Amino acid sequence: MDDLRDKYLTAIANVSDEASLEDLRVQAVGKKGEISLKMRELGKMTPEERQVAGPALNALKNEVNSAISARKASLADAALEERLRTEWLDVTLPGRPRRRGTIHPVSQVTEEVTAIFADMGFSVAEGPQIETDWYNFDALNIPGHHPARAEMDTFYTHRKEGDNRPPHVLRTHTSPVQIRHLEAHGAPCRIIAPGRVYRADYDQTHTPMFHQVEGLAIDKDISMANLKWALEEFFSAFFGGTVKTRFRASHFPFTEPSAEVDIQCSWEDGTVKVGEGDDWLEVLGSGMVHPHVLKSGGIDPAEWQGFAFGIGIDRLAMLKYGIPDLRAFFDSDLRWLRHYGFAALEAPSVHAGI
Ligand code: PHE
Repeated sequence: MDDLRDKYLTAIANVSDEASLEDLRVQAVGKKGEISLKMRELGKMTPEERQVAGPALNALKNEVNSAISARKASLADAALEERLRTEWLDVTLPGRPRRRGTIHPVSQVTEEVTAIFADMGFSVAEGPQIETDWYNFDALNIPGHHPARAEMDTFYTHRKEGDNRPPHVLRTHTSPVQIRHLEAHGAPCRIIAPGRVYRADYDQTHTPMFHQVEGLAIDKDISMANLKWALEEFFSAFFGGTVKTRFRASHFPFTEPSAEVDIQCSWEDGTVKVGEGDDWLEVLGSGMVHPHVLKSGGIDPAEWQGFAFGIGIDRLAMLKYGIPDLRAFFDSDLRWLRHYGFAALEAPSVHAGI
């Protein structure tokens, strides 16, 4: 019995994995195990022999069983230790750098403008960038012979040889969306329409493609006073309170009366600053929608009236973020984009403090 004891306790101590430990258990105390067979032999013994061998065998069986479970626990501990060691991870290492894009100032400002007018109850409308000359001109009270057509430096598309229909144009302003919206939804309405527009013009403050946001508010009794209020409310929310505006009497075929609005600014060392200096930058055209325009949109001018405006989005971005040269907006120069781009959208609100 001492031999059996030595044999199994040594084997259990030397076993190195759970599967071999299980084999050993079967071999020793399983149904046909060596110790179990010995216990069966008890029946053949004399009562005296049995009295000595019985308890001794039982004690041996218990000893072997508890050696097995102790070994099992220590093998599991060792396995866990090993896993922890191999799966070790230094969480204090610096992360791998990721390239992060930035939001273009034009996108940022479009979102800002949209958020502010949304607060005032304006929803967003859209129209195509390639327009018929009817939507871009005629419907807006700009007939074929009108000098405004020439002034707009319009890009025309080509028609096939022999096709005498008037060519389509790249829209020169967002105003055609006024007509499209009135046709589709009628009055009353309050919409803004941001988007790209095109004119053949190129210098520090002009690019052949730029961005405008159109505004249109039509109801029974909307007046020039509402226009002025809405724009001043917009500018103070957009620039943060301290900006001087100048409403200049002007002329557009599609509004009567009309006003252009300038913003006070200074140009110093190639940077432009809002709210100081004695320069003015024109940022929008506006006025009361002309009766002919309401008619083009299918609205009765005897019943409805309202205002419209068209703001230069790129101009607003230059002013608010001190960007001197408009041409750089569309160069796709990564250094410029990283410098002037925005990390995440953060839009102001007309309700201060929200
Ligand atoms: N469409 C005009 C422009 O592009 C701006 C404007 C819009 C003026 C609406 C009056 C009313 O210059």
